[in-house]
Amino acid sequence: MSAKRKIVYFFLFVIIGIQFIRPVRNVDQQGTKRSIYKLLPVPERVRDGLQTACHDCHSNNTNYLWYANIQPMGWLIAKHIRNGKAELNFDEFGIYSKRRRISKLRSVQNSIKDGSMPLASYTMLHKDARLSTETKESIIEWTNKMIDSLSMENNR
Ligand code: HEC
Repeated sequence: MSAKRKIVYFFLFVIIGIQFIRPVRNVDQQGTKRSIYKLLPVPERVRDGLQTACHDCHSNNTNYLWYANIQPMGWLIAKHIRNGKAELNFDEFGIYSKRRRISKLRSVQNSIKDGSMPLASYTMLHKDARLSTETKESIIEWTNKMIDSLSMENNR
């Protein structure tokens, strides 16, 4: 076998081999009692926006597309989900302290304002996750309202 052919076989072997190393899936359709939607009043437009644009990385339930089955794409997605959930999980919002809830809502607002979320690499493939101006405004207005009412509770 020529050296060139050996190299080609080697890479084929690696590419096929890594397909068998599959990350655990982030799937839980039951929902939790700790969900932000059980805790705070969330208008429908806001909820729709968060669910289509944020939940794949910030909840316990990701809606996987076909390419998640192909490694190393699946690994990359798993990493985004792990890091995203560590920062903010809408399904576990209830376990955050009041101070943390306020600061998370503030960073949600900031991430929408500066366009850092959802990640650009994600909206490239998920066109529906590009939020309309109206939805962004609704989310910003809602976070303001929630931050105010949570802060009031704190001072009682
Ligand atoms: C493709 C996965 C993905 C999607 C979709 C996504 N995020 Fe994130 N998010 C992450 C990751 C990963 C991090 C961890 C920090 C980082 O790598 O930037 C993060 C961090 C955050 C943080 C904490 C960091 C900060 O800026 O203070 C907030 C808040 C946040 N995301 C909000 C949102 C909101 C709101 C949406 C929907 C509009 C969203 N994210 C959609 C992956 C995602």
